Amino acid sequence: MNQRPRRTRKNSIIRNLVAETRLSKDQFIYPYFVTHGQNVKHPIAAMPGINHFSVDTLLKDVEAGLKVGINKLLLFGVGEPKTADGSSAYGKESIVPGAVSVLKKTFGDDLFVITDVCVCAYTTHGHCGILTSPPAPLQGRGEKLSVVDNDLSVELLCKMALSHAQAGADMVAPSDMMDGRIGAMRNKLDENGFVNTGIMSYAVKFASAYYGPFREAADSAPQSGDRKSYQMDARNGNETVREALLDEEEGADIIMVKPALAYLDIIQRVKESVLLPVACYNVSGEYTMVKTAAAAGYIDEQKIVMENMTAFTRAGADIIITYHARDIVEKGWL
Ligand code: PBG
Ligand code: ZN
Repeated sequence: MNQRPRRTRKNSIIRNLVAETRLSKDQFIYPYFVTHGQNVKHPIAAMPGINHFSVDTLLKDVEAGLKVGINKLLLFGVGEPKTADGSSAYGKESIVPGAVSVLKKTFGDDLFVITDVCVCAYTTHGHCGILTSPPAPLQGRGEKLSVVDNDLSVELLCKMALSHAQAGADMVAPSDMMDGRIGAMRNKLDENGFVNTGIMSYAVKFASAYYGPFREAADSAPQSGDRKSYQMDARNGNETVREALLDEEEGADIIMVKPALAYLDIIQRVKESVLLPVACYNVSGEYTMVKTAAAAGYIDEQKIVMENMTAFTRAGADIIITYHARDIVEKGWL
C-alpha cells in the first residue's frame, strides 16, 4: 500500500503544515447595533452576547475590541423615529452618521467603519424601500396592493449612503436588494467627492428565515407581506452569479453572500465568478442557533464556531461578517 493519506494527519505539526484553509483575524467584520440615549448597553434577548449600545458605551466597547484587533465594524441604527418615507434614515440627527463621526474622530484610521444602508428599521411598514400603490388597472380585486418601488427606493438609499459618507464612513453596505442601487450609489458618492468611500454590496441576499433574531434586534420586520419581491429565492443558483456580476460591473468593491451556512455552494460559485473579494454574512439566526445549543450544553461552542468559520473560508469567503468575531479574537480561538 503506497497511498496512505493518514501520513499527513499524524500530529498537529504536520496537519498544520498541510492545512489548505487558514484563518486570520484580518478577515473578520464585527456588527454593532447603535441607538439613541446615554449609557445604554442593553442585551438583545434573541442574540445572546450582543447588545444595543448608545454612542458613549459603543466607544468603550469598540476601544476594548480594538485592543485585541477587532478593527472593522458594520454599524446598524436602531430606534430611529419611523416614517412611511424613511426620511429619518438620512436626517442630520440620524443615529448612524452621529455614531460614525464620533468613532472616526476618536479612532481615526485605526478603525474601519462600514455602515449598513437600508431603510427597513426606519420605515413604519418595515420594508427595505418606499411603498407605492400601483395604478388602478394593476390593482387586484381584494385588498389594495402595494409594492416596493425600485427607483424611488434607490434615490432614498443613495441619500442615506451619502449621509454616512459625509459623516466619515469608510465604506457603505447596501442591504436592500433594489436593482441598480450600486451604480446609482457609486455615482452619488463620486459626484459629491466621496470617490474613496467603498461599497460592500449585499449582492446575493436571500429571502431567509435566518434573519429572525436580527429583525427583533433592529425592530425591522415587515408589518405586512415578506421580502420575496426583492430578496432572492433560495432555490436559485444561476441568478446569484447574475446579481454578483451586475454589482461588480456597477462598481462594488466587495461582493457579499448572505446568509452563509446554508449557502456554502453559493459562496463557492460566486467566488469562482467574480474578481472582487467575496464576503459572507454569518447571520443572526445562524449565530443564535449556535449560542443557544452551546448554552444548553449540547455542543462545544468554540469548536462549532471554528468549524463554521473554516467552512466559510474553504468555500471561498475572503471576509466573514460574524457576531462571533469578538469571541474568536478575544478568546484566542484562531
Ligand atoms: C436589513 C438587514 C437585515 C440583515 C442585515 N441587514 C435583515 C433583513 O433583510 O430582513 C440581517 C442580518 C442578520 O440576520 O444578522 N435589510
Ligand atoms: Zn432592509
